[in-house]
Amino acid sequence: MSSSRAVVPAYAKLNLALRVLHKRPDGFHDLRTVFQTITLHDTLEIEFTRARASAVTCECGVDIPNNIAARAAESLLAEWRVNAKVRIRIEKRIPMGGGLGGGSTNAAAVLLALPHLARKRVDPLRLLSIAAELGSDVPFFLRGGTALGLSRGEELYPFPEPAVSHGVLVAPGIHVSTPDAFRDLGRDGAVMSPEPMPARSWEIPAGANLAAWGRFCENDFEASVFTRHPQLAAVKRQLLRLGAGVSMMSGSGSSVFGFFATQAEARAACVVIPSSRLIRTLTCEQYREAWRKALE
Ligand code: C5P
Repeated sequence: MSSSRAVVPAYAKLNLALRVLHKRPDGFHDLRTVFQTITLHDTLEIEFTRARASAVTCECGVDIPNNIAARAAESLLAEWRVNAKVRIRIEKRIPMGGGLGGGSTNAAAVLLALPHLARKRVDPLRLLSIAAELGSDVPFFLRGGTALGLSRGEELYPFPEPAVSHGVLVAPGIHVSTPDAFRDLGRDGAVMSPEPMPARSWEIPAGANLAAWGRFCENDFEASVFTRHPQLAAVKRQLLRLGAGVSMMSGSGSSVFGFFATQAEARAACVVIPSSRLIRTLTCEQYREAWRKALE
């Protein structure tokens, strides 16, 4: 039977702000976060062939039990009641366990590419709910750009986009377990009510470079994760010393990023910080364009 194949990008995200409110009866925590896609990406090769029985395989160089990209393909095949062989190959560049949404973006890439390869449609609202079942960050990657995430992070709202900004990302190879990071916050009984994030966003000048977002960029996980891993706090201090306008840990760690007023300043910082790489923000328009090209 004939196959169809696509090579698609799966971009990483940063949390530009991350406030954790309280633990809910379902065990998850209510959040307020601002997501932002960046240029760092994995590349997925996805092949779809109709078959008598379904078989989904995923190779990515490392063994990931219960792989979320494979589960995304299985969810769509079940939704369509279609039998097919789906082969996914992932060229990994996004560090795993870095708070960069590596697994979630791989899953979203499968959800975006497979309908095109299978020549099948999925209602957009249904696609969002399949994404949310796979993981809290997956729905964001269906659209990319900048977005406010509420509830588990899956309830998304438009948020003012920063100007394309240049930054440095440091991934020191420390794996922080997300469930452990939430537990360490100790929000199980307590309810935290930070200032409403949308109101605080009014302090951000429209279309500003991220380096000017200043105090808006706060991450509730930093205190506990930095206590366990003081080297991450040292990276943040170094980025600020080298002129970053903002520096923060992403998600529950362990990546730390800094944004600079100019690309030249970001480059200069990248040269002196070990395990660092240059990044750029990716707008919703750029995200859509990259996807349009990949599926052409
Ligand atoms: O949805 P996701 O797979 O990203 O969640 C991983 C784990 O992180 C959950 O099982 C839960 O322990 C924790 N989590 C949470 N509150 C959230 C998101 C994740 O407690 N909003």
